Amino acid sequence: MSARILDGRTLSKEIRASLLERSLRIRNKGHAPGLAVILVGNDPASKVYVRNKSKACGECGVMSKVFLFPNSVSEHELIELIEKLNASNEIDGVLVQLPLPGHVNVRNIMGCISVNKDVDGFHLYNVGGLVVGGTIFPPCTPYGVQLLLETAKIEVSGKNVVIVGASNIVGKPMALMLLQKDATVSICHIKTNDLSLYTKLADVLIVAAGKPGLITADMVKNNVVVIDVGINRMPDGSITGDVDFDNVKHKASWITPVPGGVGPMTVTMLIENTIRSAELRMS
Ligand code: GUN
Repeated sequence: MSARILDGRTLSKEIRASLLERSLRIRNKGHAPGLAVILVGNDPASKVYVRNKSKACGECGVMSKVFLFPNSVSEHELIELIEKLNASNEIDGVLVQLPLPGHVNVRNIMGCISVNKDVDGFHLYNVGGLVVGGTIFPPCTPYGVQLLLETAKIEVSGKNVVIVGASNIVGKPMALMLLQKDATVSICHIKTNDLSLYTKLADVLIVAAGKPGLITADMVKNNVVVIDVGINRMPDGSITGDVDFDNVKHKASWITPVPGGVGPMTVTMLIENTIRSAELRMS
């Protein structure tokens, strides 16, 4: 048996075509949807992500502006810029690329972004919205995973969903979103004793740990749905996920490839949030 592929690249293309149409409708009303991206420092992965986000904006008719700062930037300078962007009529979404340097308090920075332009969904107001079952801007990676599952008609209600990785960006919001869909959710993390005890119970396994090859075939049950959120750059320059794809695919019913699975969906959902923000502003 070999799993069916959850193809985020193809789905993203389809969604981006419809996002371009929505964007053109907004432009016809006299406003070009705009995303501001703030990038601090020289992290190579962050630079790639920001480049991908700008490129996707271009494909979808969204104007993007990238603001670059050195690692030495102060919290005050960042907050000053965010406040300008909050007030700008040209900007519908404000995104601060993470990670930030250690001397910058992430929560302070996220807290300064207008909740109506928080297209990453990291402001505490939007995080709280997730807890009570409704937010304007779902965080992009979990939102992308949810859409991949829905498009493949994979039902999560009543299923055991196991999430490996408890980050604020993926694991925790993903758990809340799937709980809202009536899944029974477990979150495993770096301190979990006997990870495979949990992964073997999973009907749907979502892995966002940042460890290549963490999930092997002996750790999953037959017919599991596997969502690999990991993006790991290997010494030879190739990109690989957290799941041993070549072996796990023989047990799974569905699986995401890396690259070409969740990654493109994350960027697409960012554009979706930005366009929705613009639509809300124009209505
Ligand atoms: N760094 C890694 N993933 C993300 C993301 O989804 N948003 C932001 N702002 N930074 C990130």
